[in-house]
Amino acid sequence: MEQFSLAGKTALVTGASSGFGHHFAGLLAENGARVVLGARRLDKIQARVDALTAAGHEVLGLPLDVRDPASAQNFLSESVKAFGGIDILINNAGVEAGAKTYTMIDDEDWDYVFDTNLKAAWRLSKFFTQWVADNGTTGSIVNIASITAFRTIKGQFPYAVSKAALVKATEIMALEGARYGVRVNALAPGYILTDVSRVLLESERSEQFVKGIPMRRYGEFADLDGPLLLLASDASRYMTGSVVVVDGGHICAEL
Ligand SMILES: NC(=O)c1ccc[n+]([C@@H]2O[C@H](COP(=O)([O-])OP(=O)(O)OC[C@H]3O[C@@H](n4cnc5c(N)ncnc54)[C@H](OP(=O)(O)O)[C@@H]3O)[C@@H](O)[C@H]2O)c1
Repeated sequence: MEQFSLAGKTALVTGASSGFGHHFAGLLAENGARVVLGARRLDKIQARVDALTAAGHEVLGLPLDVRDPASAQNFLSESVKAFGGIDILINNAGVEAGAKTYTMIDDEDWDYVFDTNLKAAWRLSKFFTQWVADNGTTGSIVNIASITAFRTIKGQFPYAVSKAALVKATEIMALEGARYGVRVNALAPGYILTDVSRVLLESERSEQFVKGIPMRRYGEFADLDGPLLLLASDASRYMTGSVVVVDGGHICAEL
């Protein structure tokens, strides 16, 4: 469908060295976007860039530490320099602090998780919105939240709290960004095996945990393709402040 096409658009993906971001970079490129991939592990970024370039896509890899304001600013300005503009920002970079409760985490855990999952998404969104406003274009921001924003689970304290705050940030940025032509939505995936979820999905709790998902399976990367494309593209042109949950029904599970 034409509305889902990203032809002529430039999409920026943070945390594109592994997991969701690595997958999203390919998905966006396959649907016509020029894609900029950023993360700290440059060897992994380069390998993904090489593979996508060999497949005929227009992509660029940049070093990015989302916790560092100068690095975030550089990520945006180098993207503009390379491709002439920016249209889509996927705030995907995220970390967790291990299976810790609120009594176990320390200040360092708190700052590490909040600075990466929340503060960085705000900062990049601010820079992105300023560019769109200054250049009179339009933009779409997709924040990668999590169903931990809505479910209550032990042992994911700073992570789940940061994702709940990211959902609220999405709503407020949607309200405030509309006047600049920027839509801001969130994707809230359930559990899919990556480095972030490994601690739970490969634990002895895993078998029991999956029984709490109505569809009785964890997610796969491809389960996110339709929803991510919807939010990134003009197909969602009248959506802003929305949170699209993709979780096999997990947040509807009965007690
Ligand atoms: N897996 C799940 O079940 C699940 C469910 C819901 C939501 N999510 C969310 O999905 C997003 C992606 O996570 P994932 O599951 O794909 O795990 P992952 O494979 O560990 O990916 C995390 C990505 O974030 C990047 N990152 C971390 N800190 C960064 C920093 N300071 N600067 C730049 N990049 C940074 C990492 O790259 P470098 O280390 O190379 O910098 C990596 O590419 C996260 O926001 C996560 O919370 C995951």
